[in-house]
Amino acid sequence: MALDPAFLDELRARTPIAPVIGRRTKLVRSGKNWKGCCPFHGEKTPSFYVYDDHYHCFGCQAHGDVITFVMESEGRTFIEAVEELATAAGMEVPKPDRAQRARAEEARTLGEVLEAVQASWQRRLYQPEGREGLAYLRGRGLTDETIAAFGLGWSGEGRGGLVAEMAEHDITPAMLLEAGVMRADEDGTPRRELFYNRVTFPIRDRRGRLVSFGGRILGDGQPKYLNGPETPIFSKRRVLFGLDRAREGVRGTGAGAELLVVEGYMDVIALHQAGFHGAVAPLGTALTAEQLEALWQVGPAPVLCFDGDAAGQRAAVKAAQTALPLLNVERTLRFCVLPEGEDPDSLVRRDGSAAMAALVEGARPMGQVLFGLLSEGVRNPGPEQRAALRRRLVEVAALIPDKALAAEYRSTLLDSFFETFRRGGGKGAARPAIATAPVAMVDADLQRQCILTAIILEQPVVMGEVQDAYCRLELPADIAALREELLDLYDAQGALPPAEDLAASLSATGLDDVCQRVRAVRGRRGRGRDEDDLFGTDPRREWWHFYALLNVGRFAAEIRGDTERMCAGELDEAAWLSLRTRLLALDALRRGGEDVDE
Ligand code: UTP
Ligand code: MN
Repeated sequence: MALDPAFLDELRARTPIAPVIGRRTKLVRSGKNWKGCCPFHGEKTPSFYVYDDHYHCFGCQAHGDVITFVMESEGRTFIEAVEELATAAGMEVPKPDRAQRARAEEARTLGEVLEAVQASWQRRLYQPEGREGLAYLRGRGLTDETIAAFGLGWSGEGRGGLVAEMAEHDITPAMLLEAGVMRADEDGTPRRELFYNRVTFPIRDRRGRLVSFGGRILGDGQPKYLNGPETPIFSKRRVLFGLDRAREGVRGTGAGAELLVVEGYMDVIALHQAGFHGAVAPLGTALTAEQLEALWQVGPAPVLCFDGDAAGQRAAVKAAQTALPLLNVERTLRFCVLPEGEDPDSLVRRDGSAAMAALVEGARPMGQVLFGLLSEGVRNPGPEQRAALRRRLVEVAALIPDKALAAEYRSTLLDSFFETFRRGGGKGAARPAIATAPVAMVDADLQRQCILTAIILEQPVVMGEVQDAYCRLELPADIAALREELLDLYDAQGALPPAEDLAASLSATGLDDVCQRVRAVRGRRGRGRDEDDLFGTDPRREWWHFYALLNVGRFAAEIRGDTERMCAGELDEAAWLSLRTRLLALDALRRGGEDVDE
């Protein structure tokens, strides 16, 4: 029933609270206020305080105004309490007319309905009925300040209590259903309260508007958490718990101001309490593209925290895959992995904020962790596995729409691939130093790419030496497809077949066209006597020559890297021979007058 707020204010003003409470428990003066033993829980020393318009118990957290006091102490409904107090004050409770009622109903938006529910649940947490819930939250290490800051509450027992209370605010069961705090029967009539016997977590959107609730059961029991259903104002895929606070929280510096994505409500809350004000969590589902977009509006490189176990690993892979098609140079992700068996909540409680800060500071960029994520579980792969993994890496990099960035990822992934799974060599075997930049494409470059491929078709033996470098090149799609096939063949047999067999095999896979094209480019160029001088009869020298022309700086850097490795005794014989060939090629280039400043 709608009661005019002005009437209620008048009623409260005309009903001093201390005498009403004084009928229940003996109050004594305490400065301007009163105190006494709490009527809601047995106590011998007074911790119950009465102020001019409300009471508060520091023992059981009971809290309210004169109307709530009558409701709670005498078991009255809101309207009964109002009527009782009004009679005592000589006031008449106004009867709301129909029109006024209809207007009041219309005026209630879903958000207002939820705020009314929130106010009730938050209040209940501090009443006798919420005692266990409050004790649970405190037992999990939350301070009263944190509990209040997040507006945590107690749902009550769910036996119609919420419906009755909301009726006093003109909120109907139908509205509660639409707002997502009641369940409906099969025929659609609102029937049961969704949340009961749970501590409640208000879920707010990025602008702080209340959109739904989560609720946790005390202790063990299923389901552990309950989230509100999808409603006109709540979509689980879009909302991140804590994002409203995180937007402010990331303003500072240091680990405490990093935008952190964790798994659960309690992680977010515990992290905030521990000084990490940028913590947010999805609502029990994998991160969606919408949520990533929302994160990137707040910060360019959010840190995703995952459990160290297999499930955490899978979640990280999933998040990475969702993110890749959305990446660009200004939007990336970082990852950090929690110690096995811990979540951020348990970690800060066990080891303190410093432990969490260290993890956050050690978060690694996406480009670095991606290889580990994608190759997890691959040990000593056979040829097919090796080829499959390499193809997967290339595909994953290709998900990134930004071309330059995709090329960078591709090259980083393949570098890691060769470093980890080099055929025969094992870890630590020689490979060119990490390419610093992807090879940019210009027309002359296309010619060189064709020539490099054609040399391999004509002189398949060179593949053994050049495969790493060849693999890393950014190539147009058709040549890249041919390269995939060449690398697959190489991986499967440990060597490419002689040129004629190779040609036959490629033609069987429908790659004739592109083979002819790259050969034609090489044929058109012809080969002069100068070049005979330059390369001698060694096709590897010629290959490295054109490779160097694609990016002399990078070629020189790779050679420098390998030279350092040679000095450190890290090169095997094959790698040493390759280094020598490349040095000769570089030398020949210099003599040929190319610009090789680097
Ligand atoms: P976890 O099961 O990892 O729990 O759920 P937690 O966050 O560590 O919770 P505590 O510490 O036991 O209280 C992570 C998140 O998954 C969702 C919730 O959003 C939770 O915060 N979840 C979990 C559900 O939606 N339903 C469940 O039954 C369990
Ligand atoms: Mn937990």
